[in-house]
Amino acid sequence: MSANKKLLILPGDGIGPEIMREVRRVIDWMDRRGLVHFDLQEDLVGGASLDVHGVPLTDACLARARAADAVLFGAVGGPQYASFGFDKRPELAILGLRAGLGLFANLRPAQVFDALAAASTLKPEIVRGLDIMIVRESTGGIYFGQPRGIETLPDGTQRGINTEVYTTAEITRVARVAFEMARQRQGRVTSVEKSNVMESGLLWRQTVQALHDAEYADVALTHMYADNCAMQLVRAPRQFDVILTSNLFGDLLSDLASMLTGSLGMLASATLGAADAAGRRPALYEPIHGSAPDIAGRGIANPLAQILSFAMLLRYSFALEKEAALVERAVAATLSAGLRTADIMAPGCTQLGTTAMGDAVLRELDKLAA
Ligand code: IPM
Ligand code: MG
Repeated sequence: MSANKKLLILPGDGIGPEIMREVRRVIDWMDRRGLVHFDLQEDLVGGASLDVHGVPLTDACLARARAADAVLFGAVGGPQYASFGFDKRPELAILGLRAGLGLFANLRPAQVFDALAAASTLKPEIVRGLDIMIVRESTGGIYFGQPRGIETLPDGTQRGINTEVYTTAEITRVARVAFEMARQRQGRVTSVEKSNVMESGLLWRQTVQALHDAEYADVALTHMYADNCAMQLVRAPRQFDVILTSNLFGDLLSDLASMLTGSLGMLASATLGAADAAGRRPALYEPIHGSAPDIAGRGIANPLAQILSFAMLLRYSFALEKEAALVERAVAATLSAGLRTADIMAPGCTQLGTTAMGDAVLRELDKLAA
C-alpha cells in the first residue's frame, strides 16, 4: 500500500462536475480496496471561479495546484462567458495552469477501442488498432508569444498581432519527451512544423534533428509539414506512432486525430512539466473534450475520458501501471459489453446516462479485481 498522494480536483464548468463525480467513485473504490489512497482537495476554475471570485484562476488555486502531486482537471467555458474580454475568459484557467506550473509537454493519445472501431467516421479498416501519441508543446509558440494584441492604425483601421516564437531550449525539452515516449512505444517520431514558410519551424526541425543525432539515434525520426500531416492523418493514420509538434499545430492535429477514434468523449490527456531535483514532476490530466454546455446538467455526458484521464494520472504521476491498466481494462470491458453513452451509441447497444456508466465501470472493476 502506497503513502497518501495529494490530488487537486478541478471540475470546472459544464459537464465537468458531472463526469468528475464518476471519477470520485473510482477513487473511492481504489481507496476501499486499499489499492491507492489520495488526499483530495477540490477548487473552482474557469467560469465557476469567475462567478465567485471574478477571475478564472485565483492565486490560491494556482498555489494549491503547485502543492499537489497531480491535478485532475475537468473542462472550462460556457456561452455565458463568450462576450468576456481576453483577460476574463474561462479558458485562461487552463492556459494559466499550463504556464504557472510550467506544463510544457501535452500528451494526447488517440486510441481506437476495438468495440468502437465502427463509430469512427473513417472506415473501420483504416482506424482499427490505431494508437497515436501526440506530444504537443504547451507553454510556448503563438499562444504565449510577444508581441500580441490589437492595435489601431493611423487610418483608424485595426491590426491583430500574435507571434510564433520558439527557442532551442523549448524545442529540445519537449522533443526529449517525444523521443522518450517513442522508446516505450513503437520507436518512431514524426516531427511536424512548417519549415517551408516559418523560421520558427525551420529552427524546430534543425533542433529536433540535432537532439536525435546526439542522443536518440535509436529512434526513427521523420519530419513532416503540418498541412501534409493533417492529410496523412485521415489518409493513413496508422503510419504514425509519436507526433511531436508545436502548441497551435498540436491543438489542431489533436482534435483531428481524436475524431479518428469515433468520439471526443473517449480521449484523455496529460500535461507534464520538468521534474525537480527531488524527481517531482508537475502534471495535469484532463479529457480533451470541452465543457459541452449544450448537454450539461442532463445526466447524459460520457464520463469515460475523465476516468481515462485519471488512469493516465496513475501511470504518469505515480507509476501505478497496474492500477492504471485496471481502470483502462474496466473501461474497455464496459464498451465490449455494449454499454454506451449517447455520444457513442450504436445499433444493438444499450444507452446509459452518466451515473449508470459510472456504475458499469465500477462493476467491471469489481470483476477484474475479484
Ligand atoms: C485544448 C483547448 C485549449 C487550447 C483552449 C481551451 C484554450 O482547445 O486544450 O486543446 O487551445 O489549448
Ligand atoms: Mg484544442
